[in-house]
Amino acid sequence: MTRTADFYNCFSFFYPVVDVFLKPQKRRLYSEINELPSGRLLEIGLGNGLHLPLYKTHQITGIDTSSAMLCIAAKRKPENVELLQMNGESLLFRDGTFDYVVLSHVIAVVDKPDKLLIEIHRVLKPDGRVFILNHFTPENWLRFVDKMFQPISRLFHFNSVFHIQSLPSIVNFNLIDEISFGSLSYFKLKIYGKA
Ligand SMILES: C[S@@+](CC[C@H](N)C(=O)[O-])C[C@H]1O[C@@H](n2cnc3c(N)ncnc32)[C@H](O)[C@@H]1O
Repeated sequence: MTRTADFYNCFSFFYPVVDVFLKPQKRRLYSEINELPSGRLLEIGLGNGLHLPLYKTHQITGIDTSSAMLCIAAKRKPENVELLQMNGESLLFRDGTFDYVVLSHVIAVVDKPDKLLIEIHRVLKPDGRVFILNHFTPENWLRFVDKMFQPISRLFHFNSVFHIQSLPSIVNFNLIDEISFGSLSYFKLKIYGKA
């Protein structure tokens, strides 16, 4: 598939170490999602699926480009979850299929984030919701840290400098809610609807 998929195939074994730091934000993400009326939910780049048991409602479709990540996720897959190897930048679903789309630490990883947003907009129902959990490069001093780490972060197949407003297709979405994590608010959960 892609070089990012190759990277995550190799990295899948170590990913649980990274995951330890992300757990509190993810618990909040999935509790927000569990509050919603039952529907069809697409999680793009679901990774090793450690969090899958946190989904209490909804019919879940999880996709990832990394076969190694999907293999681990398949071992803990509850019944309401289907897993597919698929690229989020070219989704094989019909227009308006999903009520909810979830991106947890994925949008700064994919090769073409704008294409990803275009595809999400296409497969989302008119009144659907998109949940984007990620780091967002702020305007404060942390932007210099992100800039410094950008060359290293590319070696690990993500962008430490990430500005969602620089993606042209973000104009097709309305920001409905924003939840910040930690005192520096570096990590955020942004919830969007269709504009
Ligand atoms: C940083 S991990 C995040 C995993 C999980 N969502 C989490 O929060 O722990 C990024 C995941 O996105 C997947 N990925 C990268 N590019 C992708 C793409 N274009 N389509 C689908 N998945 C992709 C990677 O294989 C990896 O599993």
